Amino acid sequence: MRERESTPGGIDTWTPNGARIYDYILGGRDNYPADRAAADKMLQSNPAARNTALANRAFLGRVVTHLAGEAGITQFLDIGSGLPTQRNVHEVAQAANPDARVVYVDLDPTVIRHSQALLERDGTGNVMTFQGDVRKPGRILEAPRVNAFLDLRQPIAVLMVAVLHFVSDEEDAHGIVRRLGDKLAPGSHLVISHTADESPPEVKAVAQQGFRMAGAMLTPRTRAEITRFFDGFELLEPGLVDVRAWRPEQPVGELPPAGWTIVGGVARRDP
Ligand SMILES: C[S@@+](CC[C@H](N)C(=O)[O-])C[C@H]1O[C@@H](n2cnc3c(N)ncnc32)[C@H](O)[C@@H]1O
Repeated sequence: MRERESTPGGIDTWTPNGARIYDYILGGRDNYPADRAAADKMLQSNPAARNTALANRAFLGRVVTHLAGEAGITQFLDIGSGLPTQRNVHEVAQAANPDARVVYVDLDPTVIRHSQALLERDGTGNVMTFQGDVRKPGRILEAPRVNAFLDLRQPIAVLMVAVLHFVSDEEDAHGIVRRLGDKLAPGSHLVISHTADESPPEVKAVAQQGFRMAGAMLTPRTRAEITRFFDGFELLEPGLVDVRAWRPEQPVGELPPAGWTIVGGVARRDP
């Protein structure tokens, strides 16, 4: 039997890992053969998946630029933040407002370790990492470390970008988001992107199998189901749309089918 590969940090590199699969699809380098094999299977069944992942990242960048700039948000809670990659949230937010503060939250200890290493290397202030589970938002919002860093009596932006499709209906995904939203101060923003249930069945099956191997269940949802995550908040223009169409820098016109569609939106809690 082959020895399990592991890095000095004790990371299991033998089992595919959801965050590293996504990193590979994005063109990143923090991934291992098992991750690449799982990702390559998905890319074979849907070669456009890389463009969809890149479009999701670009959406995140445009949203954070808007929030930290025009919307005047200075506090960001990025849940399911993923491995550090190009144009990380703190870099984008601080380009618009150098005082912006960012908490990166992820369930995966590998992600937390990589994020800490990046932040230490860059000597970045106003940023911290926290290992937490989006399914337990109370534990994140009530954590003393998070509260010492963010003033939750003031508006914040909660980013849940490409993460809620890993929370099933049995786990009460909508209830989780509602309870989280109820705790946010007026003027806070909710940012969600999510896999839409619009892929051909064979593409959906391969994606679900790939993530299942990585221990994650992918639950694509319809646009109506995803819109319900914003209940109690007011969706900003242009509403919930294909991420490529959320306030694009250049007009996108008629969008070609994506094979794998991620939709996203931004909503504000009114005073
Ligand atoms: C597809 S990546 C998205 C990364 C980043 N938000 C983006 O859109 O570019 C999903 C991330 O969610 C994390 N994740 C999955 N389930 C989670 C949970 N229950 N709580 C917190 N993070 C979770 C994974 O570890 C992974 O890093």
